[in-house]
Amino acid sequence: RTQPLVDPFGRAISYVRVSVTDRCDFRCVYCMSEDMAFLPKADILSLEELDRLCSAFVRMGTRKLRLTGGEPLVRRNIMELVRSLGRHLRDGSLEELTVTTNGSQLAKYADDLRAAGVRRINVSIDTLDPDKFARITRWGRLPQVMEGLAAAKAAGLEVKINAVALKGVNDGEFDDMLRWCGAQGFDLTLIEVMPLGDIDGTGGGETRAEQFLSLSEVRRDLSKRWTLEDIDYRTGGPARYVRVKETGQRLGLITPLTHNFCESCNRVRITCTGTLYMCLGQEDAADLRAPLRASADDALLDQAIRAAIQRKPKGHDFVIDRRRAPSVGRHMSVTGG
Ligand code: GTP
Ligand code: 5AD
Ligand code: SF4
Repeated sequence: RTQPLVDPFGRAISYVRVSVTDRCDFRCVYCMSEDMAFLPKADILSLEELDRLCSAFVRMGTRKLRLTGGEPLVRRNIMELVRSLGRHLRDGSLEELTVTTNGSQLAKYADDLRAAGVRRINVSIDTLDPDKFARITRWGRLPQVMEGLAAAKAAGLEVKINAVALKGVNDGEFDDMLRWCGAQGFDLTLIEVMPLGDIDGTGGGETRAEQFLSLSEVRRDLSKRWTLEDIDYRTGGPARYVRVKETGQRLGLITPLTHNFCESCNRVRITCTGTLYMCLGQEDAADLRAPLRASADDALLDQAIRAAIQRKPKGHDFVIDRRRAPSVGRHMSVTGG
């Protein structure tokens, strides 16, 4: 192991989110455009290259690796990468290997994920209404995801549901979702919608800004009907958690807009082309593919990673305002959140 990565603000980088593909079998309206053009294969890192890149970060102190997409489980032979990265769990250099998924392929992969060392997964479901689900994802089938969730449970994976809070879309459903998650034994995390990519909302003519919901307000409203107890639970991610006394499950809140958490940021993102984004909310990026492909030795790669971390910005400057274009032009799907 070498010197751990610390950014100019003294934040240790211990969490790497790796987008293994830009493709997805859904097209969630806040994440991708409907006619998304996908990258040519030659630009995309091979599974071996992704492994080498992740392993370089592990060597430099990364304790948590999360595979994202697009949809990570639509990448061909993805389990080869997961299984290979599992070696870092076994030798103790990595604490957690996990995925954020739309759940569509879980029926196929849940057992394999568990066997490879994954213990906990995050599954994105914004609504329990199949028609609304199909609208938000543009054509996703909720029953298919539900089958995936059943398989995950049966495989012994801990499940957290991610829901982006959207005014006029799913804001009437949070009680139902809390109840359903309680019954299933899942945690639930609500997420403030972030202005990445375009500013359109979910198709009804509303903009992203008009659909924005403050989770501070949502929390206040929920606490009229639920007992939300403060707990000291940390995953290394941005959510702050409370225990829902009535269900026993946790509720997480991710509030980039109403309660900035950048001060304690511990993460960076890698895209499937080997681009390192130092912050979700900024455009600055560093190419790691060139140093990766330039030599089989990791010296150049390590150097490029260290130089990039020295440029990590203090935080995002997201603003939700319908008169303004988003500060970050790329879609969420590029970095998988
Ligand atoms: P846990 O390990 O369960 O805490 O997961 P996580 O919240 O780190 O990851 P997940 O992929 O479930 O992300 C949930 C949401 O949090 C997504 O909408 C991400 O875009 C958002 N998110 C994760 N990390 C950051 C971050 O560094 N900054 C901002 N602004 N949002 C983030
Ligand atoms: N704002 C907030 N969260 C988003 N996600 C995708 N796009 C956005 C956005 N614009 C969420 C997905 C998934 C996670 C990886 O990111 O719903 O749960
Ligand atoms: Fe870290 Fe940037 Fe996310 Fe803030 S917005 S928590 S600095 S990645």
